[in-house]
Order: sequence, then C-alpha cells, then structure tokens
Amino acid sequence: MNGRIGDPIGAPIAGPIAGPIGVFDSGLGGLTVLRAMIDLLPHESVMYFGDTARFPYGPKPSDEVLKYALEIGRLLVEHDARVVVVACNSAAAAALEVLEEELPVPVLGVIEPGMRAAARTTRSGRVGVIGTVGTIASGAYQRAAADLDVEIDLTCAACPGFVEFVEAGDVDSEQVHILAERLLAPLRDVSVDTVVLGCTHYPLLARTISDVMGPEVMLVSSADETAFAVRELLGTPPEGSAPRLGDHRFVTSGDVETFGRLGARFLGPEVVHVEQWSWT
Ligand code: DGL
Repeated sequence: MNGRIGDPIGAPIAGPIAGPIGVFDSGLGGLTVLRAMIDLLPHESVMYFGDTARFPYGPKPSDEVLKYALEIGRLLVEHDARVVVVACNSAAAAALEVLEEELPVPVLGVIEPGMRAAARTTRSGRVGVIGTVGTIASGAYQRAAADLDVEIDLTCAACPGFVEFVEAGDVDSEQVHILAERLLAPLRDVSVDTVVLGCTHYPLLARTISDVMGPEVMLVSSADETAFAVRELLGTPPEGSAPRLGDHRFVTSGDVETFGRLGARFLGPEVVHVEQWSWT
C-alpha cells in the first residue's frame, strides 16, 4: 500500500453519516450493484474501487483472486469503509469467507442475494446461472441453490468473453450476439424460465442476453437484492433528519479516462471524477 487514495486531491468524506460503503469489482461490473445501492440509499456515501489493471478476475486461479480481494478489502477499510460490498461474483466465490474473517467490518457478497431473487422468480424451478469460468467452477452458486428451502433444478454455464466486451464498451454488437447464442445454448436446451446474471458485468448485456433467451425468460441480477441487504445492515436515517446526499468516490487501478467515460455511461452522472490507484 502506498498511502491513501487521492491524498492530494480527494476531500475527506464528511457529514453526519460516518464512513462510506466500500464497493469493489475487477472493473466496471460492480457499478450495476452500485446503481441499485445509490438509488435505494441516496444518503450513503460510497467509495467504489475498480481493479481494472488486474482485470479480468474470472479466468484467474482462485488464490490469486483471493489475494486481490484481500488487498482491496483492506484498502477500503483503511479509507474508513464501514461495510464492504464484494460487487464481483468471481471475488465473492474466491474470497467471501476469508474477507468476513479478516476484515473488521461487515462484508456482503452477491451470490446468495442473486440466488434468493431467482428462487422467488422461477415458476418451473428450472434456473440457469451464467458467470465467469472462476465463479461457475467454484460451485458457489450450486451451494447457494442447495441452501435454499425450495427445490431448484440448476444449469450453470460459464461465459468467457462477455466481460471483455463490456469493459470495451461493447454491449450489443453482432459479435457479442453471436457469442451469446453459443454460450447460452445449454440454458435454452433445458428450457430454464429464469437466468441469474451471476457476474456483475452481465446486466449491461441484458438486452443481448434477453434477445437470445427469449422474452418469456426472466433475467435476475443480484443488484437490488444486495442493495436491500445493505439497507437492512445499515438502517435508514431517522425520520425528520435533514436530507443529505452521499458523496461518491471512484477509484481505478487502470486508466482513469476510460473508467470515467464508460463509468458515466454505465452508472450515470455520479461519475464526475475518477482517482488513480497504483499497486506497488
Ligand atoms: N464482475 C465480475 C463478476 O461478477 C467478473 C469480471 C471478471 O472476470 O473480472 O464475476
């Protein structure tokens, strides 16, 4: 670690609510979770870390992803995060339990919330999960489904290549459509009625995925469910307290210009300034 992010630039997060919600992903994907959190908890400050320099996490060995997740979790806590949201399925699959043990603040992942949302949505019980190679190989979704108190017939498919398209800003080209046709075929073959977007980048591909799966198949992301879990943990401001909007900080280990441009397109106007972080 080399000091605090944005030491020369960033203003300290101040105000009646102490400490931001720390959120991280390998890149832009976690912004889909952040959108839901900002909408539900506009008074909360957030600090988002996109580890773009070390993206993608999906194809990497789980011990490497665990090491990255621990570094980022500790960094967020050093910057006063009072809860850490692992807005990355690949990192949650590799590191959630260790993060829960190692960090001195509560840690929330995205896998159980996504599976809960799917269980509420499915009518036939046939549910598909798509994710990175690391997430699917970890068995984390299979375990989350087995832990539910309803019977789910789960079909999992890894979708290598999807996140690279998203990070390049391409969410609906002919090429991404052709790739989706091939990767989603196993889910169509078993007629799932619900698909869990088990990678936080995938909601940005929802139109393409829905085109391929057909309009009768429901797409479920963990974003809203995760935001509700954060609200349950942190509570809401007491009634009658002065309205306040939280501060939003964005940090990337990669290129700040690219992160800022695509971040504003995918998240919205909250992405005003992006700070640089270098792993040393
Ligand atoms: N957004 C991340 C996830 O939810 C993965 C992207 C990557 O492969 O780095 O799994």
